[in-house]
Order: sequence, then C-alpha cells, then structure tokens
Amino acid sequence: MDSISASTFSPTTTPTLSHNKNSHRIEKVMNVEKKYIADVDRLIPRPDIALEVLCLAQDSSSSVAELAKKIEHDPNMTANMLRMANSSYFGHMQEITSLKDIIVRLGLDMVKILAITSASAGILTSPQQAYDLEPRALWNHSHACAVLAEIIARYANLDNHYTIYTAALLHDIGKVVLNKPLLSACAAKKTDKKFSSILELERFMLQTDHARVGAALLAAWGLPESITIPVARHHSGGGIKPNRLDVKIISLANFLVESIGIRSLMPEDFHFDVDEFLRQNQESPDFSSFSANMASIMEEFFTRFTGADLILA
Ligand SMILES: [Fe+2]
Ligand SMILES: [Fe+2]
Repeated sequence: MDSISASTFSPTTTPTLSHNKNSHRIEKVMNVEKKYIADVDRLIPRPDIALEVLCLAQDSSSSVAELAKKIEHDPNMTANMLRMANSSYFGHMQEITSLKDIIVRLGLDMVKILAITSASAGILTSPQQAYDLEPRALWNHSHACAVLAEIIARYANLDNHYTIYTAALLHDIGKVVLNKPLLSACAAKKTDKKFSSILELERFMLQTDHARVGAALLAAWGLPESITIPVARHHSGGGIKPNRLDVKIISLANFLVESIGIRSLMPEDFHFDVDEFLRQNQESPDFSSFSANMASIMEEFFTRFTGADLILA
C-alpha cells in the first residue's frame, strides 16, 4: 500500500515546494497521476459540451434557454437525450420530441442527468482488456452504480442527488485511462505475486490506481470536489471523514452492483435477496437509512435499471 492511501488523496491538493516530508509525498503522487492524464485528450474525447452544460447547470444565474442552446450545439447529445427521455425508464406515454419538452416535462435536474449520461456513454462503452471488461461492461456497471446511488441518496435525504449520480457514473473513468498502461506494465513486469484487489495490482504496476487517476482527470476537466472526492475515495469508504455520506453512498452502490454481477447479467436474470445479502455481506458499507429501506431501494433500482437498458442505441 502506498504511503498516501486513496482515502487521503485529494486531486485538487496544490503541490508545494515546502521540504516537509508529507508535501514531498503529495507532490510525487500528483506527478504520477499527471503523467497518466497528460495524453488523455488523444484517448478520451473531452466531453466539452457536457462539461459546459454541467457548469451552466450548476450556476444558479444561468437560464434554461441558455442551457438548451448549449445542448442543441451538439446534435448527437440532443438525439441521445431524446432517446433516453422516451425509454421505458421514464414511463411516459406521450412521446417527447424536443429538448424543450424534456425540460418542461422532466425538469431541469433530469436535463443535467441526461446530458452527463449521454456524454459518459461514449467514453465508457469501449472494452477495457486490462480489467477483463468486455464492450459495454464498464458502462453497465457505471450506469447501474449511478442509478442506485441516486436512489440511496434520496432515501438518505441528501439534496444533491444529481451530483452523486454524476460522481457514481464517472467513478471508474480512471480505468479507461489506465487500461493501456496497465496492459503494458503487466506484460513488461512479470511477477508471481498474488494481488488481493485490482487496486493493489494497479499500485504495484503503475504506482497509482484508477480512483486517483479518475479523480485527477475530472479535476483537470474542471469538475468540482463534490464529484472528484467521491471518485478518489470510492474504494476506501467514507471512513476518513465520517460525515461524507456521498462517499459512503457511492462505495455502497459500487459494492452492491459488483455483488449482484450486473456487468455480465441480462436484466431479466437479476436477483437480489435482502436477507441473504445481509447474511453474506456483514462487512459491507452501511448506514441506517439504507438498511432500513433496503428492500424498497433495491426494488426501485431493478425497475429503473431494467427500463434504462435501451438507453444506448
Ligand atoms: Fe473502482
Ligand atoms: Fe466500480
């Protein structure tokens, strides 16, 4: 394990010239992540319009008309958003035919969710061989995490559902960045060492991990700490700051989606038994609003996620 664990890493920490021992460590960690994201524009098309939409949406002084104008600059995004808005996920009988329709009938928060979902789908659908992820597997996992995290956040009475949805959707984006470096490092550095987790393997091979690199990438794209911190800590729970419920929610959603095996199962094969899960996963992340409402949360999740299956064309 690195001397600075994922739980203490903040991607927006400013490197310092101080000779303090810890600051040297932070600087070193920052440089490792910077190395991997330096070339990222060639690897992942920067979702410019989605990022601008997110920034506009977070600015309370911006108008709906301004937001719609920005989205309409990207015909692909508009088409994707219309397809999503008309999927059974939203259960609307009457067809939604324009961006204005989406705004009026689904609300501004849903416009933000659809915009970031549409932009992320293009980034997360490619296969990630180093992680044994087939085409769409990372997308299925990420999208399931986002839907589930948003429902858990609502039950926990958090009002920033949309931010949690975005952070959960992008929590594993670091895998897209590290896929090739990890493949090359594994081929070059032969070892018999057994690794207990993918993070341990990444840190051994690359001196960093996908949580840190993902957070560094999103910070470089200008996303706020409310998104980059949960991404950086999604494998370390909320332990470092017990009041960070957003980190706990995303860690829990990630854990549950992994446990259910969503990336490889078809929606009709999903099965979740609350009692069985609690018996077998006594160490899982937990908090009262989740365990008290687990059956309803999972039922809503399965209904919504099954309806969302047609989101990608
Ligand atoms: Fe992860
Ligand atoms: Fe994950």
